[in-house]
Amino acid sequence: MRRASAIAFVAVLQAVAPASGATQSAFEPMGPASAELFRLIWLFTALSAVIWLGVIAVLITTLVRRDGARADPLALDPSAERRATGWVTIATAGTAIVLIGLALLSYFSNRTLAGIGADASLTIRLTGHQWWWEVRYENEQPSKVVTTANEIHIPTGEPVRLVLASTDVIHSFWVPSLAGKLDLIPGHQNVLEFRADKSGVYRGQCAEFCGFQHAHMAIMIIAEPRPEFDAWLEHQLQPAAQPASAEEQAGHDRFMNRPCVMCHKIGGTAAGGTVGPDLTHVSSRTTLAAGTLPMDEPSLAAWITDPQSFKPGAHMPIVDLSGDELSSIAAYLGNLK
Ligand code: CUA
Repeated sequence: MRRASAIAFVAVLQAVAPASGATQSAFEPMGPASAELFRLIWLFTALSAVIWLGVIAVLITTLVRRDGARADPLALDPSAERRATGWVTIATAGTAIVLIGLALLSYFSNRTLAGIGADASLTIRLTGHQWWWEVRYENEQPSKVVTTANEIHIPTGEPVRLVLASTDVIHSFWVPSLAGKLDLIPGHQNVLEFRADKSGVYRGQCAEFCGFQHAHMAIMIIAEPRPEFDAWLEHQLQPAAQPASAEEQAGHDRFMNRPCVMCHKIGGTAAGGTVGPDLTHVSSRTTLAAGTLPMDEPSLAAWITDPQSFKPGAHMPIVDLSGDELSSIAAYLGNLK
């Protein structure tokens, strides 16, 4: 029993802790959008703290210095009334000035945020699904459109534009190190523009409760220098790798003859489903099932065996496979780099 709870505890830690090396913190801004929000929230917090301390100081002073009981509590003291009116007027004017000041700060921050993507080099369509992210690199030439999942590569130092949409319920995109939060809403498009000033892996999380597996809806942003990004994009455009061994070939054939093809696409093969994530280069990604498992062959096999035990409620069904079928399919998918 103790062992079972220890395993459960480790599983929770693994689920909560960001993947190794990935940054996920609004306190470590790595781009202009998150830096602007960081400044703004500190200003608001500091100013609110000063005002709160002032109010508490006045409250304590009045409690300490209050007058003794008066003979006639209803009798007006004209000079005290005048002083009170003066203080209330000053406090009201001060409140109005502070509120207008904060509204102006918000307004200018919004303008700064809106200006970040003015010359965005890249438009990426991000669609929320229960519970994964569909990522599409738009291009005027349909043959150059890249589709992937749960991971967004971007060139470091260049503004990118994300067009956010959803097919089912409301999700929310939040990569705190890079940008503010914005919802993905069915039937509506939101646009979020940001830039990563430093190469690295930034973890994000769906930030709007979207059902049972909301917590298992992570996303990785991989910012890399332009040449590496171009090479990645070029590679993603290629059809899937050919099976490199007899086992992989068997896995390929089984994948095509099993229900897998109904939901998944593998570029350059007969598999063309669009219900689940595109698997053309599945093994080039760092995680499986939107940050739920690391990406490797054992995880692929475990996931295919019983997706429901890792992500209960996920729309991937359990497909009845023999041990041979399972290991060959995992070997084939493990080769799709
Ligand atoms: Cu998607 Cu929460």
